[in-house]
Amino acid sequence: MEDKLVVISKMSKAFPTGEGDFLALKNINLSFAKGEFSGIVGPSGSGKTTMLNIIGSLDSQTEGEVKVMGYEIKELSSKQAADLRSRHLGFIFQTYNLLPVYTVYENVEFPLLLLSMSKEERHKAVMQALEWLGLTDKIKSRPAQLSGGQCQRVAIARAMVKQPGLVLADEPTANLDTENSLHILDMMKKLNQELGTSFIFSTHDQKVIDYLRRVIRLVDGEVVSDDTKAR
Ligand SMILES: Nc1ncnc2c1ncn2[C@@H]1O[C@H](COP(=O)(O)OP(=O)(O)O)[C@@H](O)[C@H]1O
Ligand SMILES: [Mg+2]
Repeated sequence: MEDKLVVISKMSKAFPTGEGDFLALKNINLSFAKGEFSGIVGPSGSGKTTMLNIIGSLDSQTEGEVKVMGYEIKELSSKQAADLRSRHLGFIFQTYNLLPVYTVYENVEFPLLLLSMSKEERHKAVMQALEWLGLTDKIKSRPAQLSGGQCQRVAIARAMVKQPGLVLADEPTANLDTENSLHILDMMKKLNQELGTSFIFSTHDQKVIDYLRRVIRLVDGEVVSDDTKAR
């Protein structure tokens, strides 16, 4: 029955503030199937990051249901949520979030240290991910020696190294120029097509929107449209 990776129903998220609760997401009903290349699109403050954080089990909703790979986010213990993330989810952020003292190789290997894999298995997976992202000549470099586009490719390799079912990418092109943005979008689209990895982006970058197959528009925490392009 489960071709749905994510099922969100009647979901709301309130943040407590000094002047009472602030509703960042309001009555969201959405689902994502396997293999999607979709984006949550909206202006700054519309709730994109909040939505990705909940789907990624980094936060939880205050109302309604959010099922990710069959697990209800609100019911997971912090250990179970960590387990879901480390096995099934990849994360890409606008600021790359690489570990500066680690090499490219070590950054990409990092998520595998949480899984029970031998050093040889890790090596194979890291080299494969670096090859996908065209980084095999950079394995010994550290983030400070790389361009922004290269750093984001390392972050994508880190997200892909365990071959997760779902990658969440929060404004991944926000710090990149057009050429680098298009380059990483091409690479992610190819990984989506060849490996079947699902991607959910958050963005307000028109270049990203043009690449998406499905565009979900968010305004003030509400879904105002949800359009899938014909192939
Ligand atoms: N921890 C928090 N406490 C209070 N308000 C928050 C918190 N996180 C986000 N918000 C508010 O929720 C709204 C949506 O934020 P966010 O999801 O970061 O939007 P976006 O990613 O679309 O820019 C914003 O008005 C933001 O100020
Ligand atoms: Mg955001």
